[in-house]
This record gives sequence, C-alpha cells and structure tokens, in this order.
Amino acid sequence: MGAEVTVRFTVNGRERSVATDPDRTLLDVLREDLELRGAKHGCGEGICGACSVLVDGRRMNACRTAVAKAAGRSVVTIEGLADGDELHPVQRAFLELGAFQCGFCTPGMIVSAVALLDANPAPSDEEIVAGMDRNICRCCSHPRIVKAVRRAVELAEGGAR
Ligand code: FES
Ligand code: FES
Repeated sequence: MGAEVTVRFTVNGRERSVATDPDRTLLDVLREDLELRGAKHGCGEGICGACSVLVDGRRMNACRTAVAKAAGRSVVTIEGLADGDELHPVQRAFLELGAFQCGFCTPGMIVSAVALLDANPAPSDEEIVAGMDRNICRCCSHPRIVKAVRRAVELAEGGAR
C-alpha cells in the first residue's frame, strides 16, 4: 500500500475527489468508494471486459487501471450513459433484443459497444465482432449481442440519442 493521495477526476459528468492509495484500481474506487457498481469485477486480469469503462472516451479495463491514471480525466460508467430517464440507444437495443442472460457481462458489453459506435457509427458485422472481442459473455449471448449492436446503429440513425 502506498501513501494516500487525493485523486480528482470527473465521473459521469460530476467532479469527484477521492483520498486513496494511488495504486488501487479504478474499478475498486468506482465500486467501493463511489458506490458505482455497474462495472463488474470478473477476471480482474484484463481479459473478460466486465469492468469496461470509458476514460476520456476510450474503453479501458478498470480492473487494470490504477486510479491515479484517471486523475484529471473524464470517466464514464454504465451509470452515466442514460440521459435522465432516456436510455442510450445501445442500452435500448440490448433491452429490446434481450442480449443477455445473467447480465453480469452486460454493463461492460454496453460500454464497449458505445466506444465502438463512437469510433465507427456504421460498423459491419465483422467490425462489430472485432470491436467487441475484448468482452466475454460466459452465457454465450454473443450472437444476440452482435444483433443488439446492429440495432443500436438503427436506433441512433433514427434520431435516438
Ligand atoms: S474484470 Fe477487468 S477485464 Fe475482467
Ligand atoms: S449474460 Fe451472463 S455473462 Fe453475459
């Protein structure tokens, strides 16, 4: 454990300041200190993507990111994607198509899909599969997840945020 430092960053649009060991993971700080438990602790080794969050718009595995690296940056978690009561198109698409079973991987999947579509708003199926390949669904919902990402493209094109 290192000496505590104060890390200041923005989480879901809100300025946050946390006194912490700088080597703790961003995932632990989000879940334990900020009570944002959408990002999940799956493998803890950067393999499953269940902990995916956006840092300055880039998808990152929060389980492998020291919280100190988030200082001064903008972090977005699954809790920050909806606009009030209006779900993000990717969230709507996952719900519409039931692209999950247990739901454990779903927050990370949705965050990764948002990052994918921000970078490439009209991906091919191959690009969707490649863009989501850092997220694992142990319930084998991958085919429906690909369909949901495709549906999110339609919803976004149709004017849903
Ligand atoms: S929990 Fe972070 S990649 Fe698996
Ligand atoms: S829905 Fe269960 S791990 Fe993906």
